[in-house]
Amino acid sequence: MVSQSPTRPDIRELRERFEAHGQGHVFRFWDGLDADARHRLEAQAASLDLPALVRGFRATQEPLAATASLEPPEVEALPEHGGDAARHREARERGEAALAEGRVAVMVVAGGQGSRLGFSGPKGLFPIGPVSDRMLFALQAQKIRRLRERTGAAIPWYVMTSGATDAATRRAFEADKYFGLPPGDVFFLRQGMLPSFDFDGKLILEQPDRIFENPDGHGGSLTALLSSGALDDMRERGITTIFYYQVDNPLAILGDPILLGFHHGAGAQASCKSLRKETPEEKVGVFARIDGRIGVVEYTEITDEQRNARGADGALRFSAGNTAIHAFEVDFVRHVAAEAERRLPLHASAKKIRQVDEHGTPHDPSEPNGFKLERFVFDALSAADRVCVVEAPRDEYSPVKNATGADSPATSRRALSDQYRRWITEAGLSPPASDHWIEIDESRIGGPDDLRTLGLEQVGDAPDSILTRPGDDA
Ligand code: UTP
Repeated sequence: MVSQSPTRPDIRELRERFEAHGQGHVFRFWDGLDADARHRLEAQAASLDLPALVRGFRATQEPLAATASLEPPEVEALPEHGGDAARHREARERGEAALAEGRVAVMVVAGGQGSRLGFSGPKGLFPIGPVSDRMLFALQAQKIRRLRERTGAAIPWYVMTSGATDAATRRAFEADKYFGLPPGDVFFLRQGMLPSFDFDGKLILEQPDRIFENPDGHGGSLTALLSSGALDDMRERGITTIFYYQVDNPLAILGDPILLGFHHGAGAQASCKSLRKETPEEKVGVFARIDGRIGVVEYTEITDEQRNARGADGALRFSAGNTAIHAFEVDFVRHVAAEAERRLPLHASAKKIRQVDEHGTPHDPSEPNGFKLERFVFDALSAADRVCVVEAPRDEYSPVKNATGADSPATSRRALSDQYRRWITEAGLSPPASDHWIEIDESRIGGPDDLRTLGLEQVGDAPDSILTRPGDDA
């Protein structure tokens, strides 16, 4: 155990730096801390880039710049919404070729704390299979296994965790033997953390020897890709494009060839899948040209007038909802991550944050007492010269966000089972009775085409791959 005295030059210098930025209170319990506690606090304080942090936080508190000009983005519409079916076919072929050439990696962001869901573990461990209760990671691994088989390429999987989810996520992968994937093709990376500020702009201590920190938002994925060495690993593997998705959407088509094909065809650095909003009230951010560049306007930021605006055809003007499914060029991510302070600004939201009182006793406040900070991945879009927005069918997005109601396990399982029912029908088979839940093993069957190839006469002929269960709630 290293004994440390407050007079050591490095701690003195560190404390002076915190004083100079108005954050000297971080060390106010120093004299009462034992050597271990001092060591912990010193290490944590030294790890913070304080000037950038204080600058970034101040920027979140400044009044918003004069209203930007907002225009709808160009969207590659689905053929059933007026898009060109031949262009979609071409895009799919181009995407399949990129996958087969081994140029694509899949990345999931799974570092969030899932506070709305209220599940005790990382969201990736949430049981989502409508029949088997298979966890989200297991389902996603099935999709990747089928993708590898179909394309003959390794398709490495980059799994971003955070301090909140890392250990439990790795344990789950180990326990389930990487869900049938070669461990060498699964790369874990851990996102960074950001401290919180109280309403007076002071860093919050959650313990006398600990500054409160939370995962740095999904935007932290881009900086984590750089700092973890994942981008170098990709370069060595010949990967040029990252397919990015969120762990809580079991409906995402991983390595979607249509998105990849449009992305490559347009020579885009970043691309997005969007969902056509049906009503102005749907609580989803929308893609827009903001002062000429593609970005996302959050549901909370759009004005009522913009939210309700309709074009000459009567359709909503801002209808391209954000699914958080993207394609990113590896070089683009490197560029954004290297300029993170400028490209991925901090966002602040008022939250209840555990904080010590003047005696050093921690309390959980009943009202918001400070700002948590995060980076948003879609802020990177404004750094891209070319962004392609591709419309997704509604059934590619049904996230698990809330414990009940909209976007909950109930709606997401329902959407999965309904999707499998549709695959069965499209393949020309009779689906199980309508009060039955359905689950398909996606490592074997990735869609109606795979089902057709199997040449089944009835669903019951593949009991290992197509699971069903009766249920009043189906
Ligand atoms: P959300 O913004 O929905 O947050 O994340 P969440 O943590 O899942 O849930 P709440 O808001 O606490 O209820 C969308 C996606 O981004 C990931 C999440 O894991 C999810 O896949 N994410 C979010 C991160 O990986 N890191 C973060 O810091 C935040």
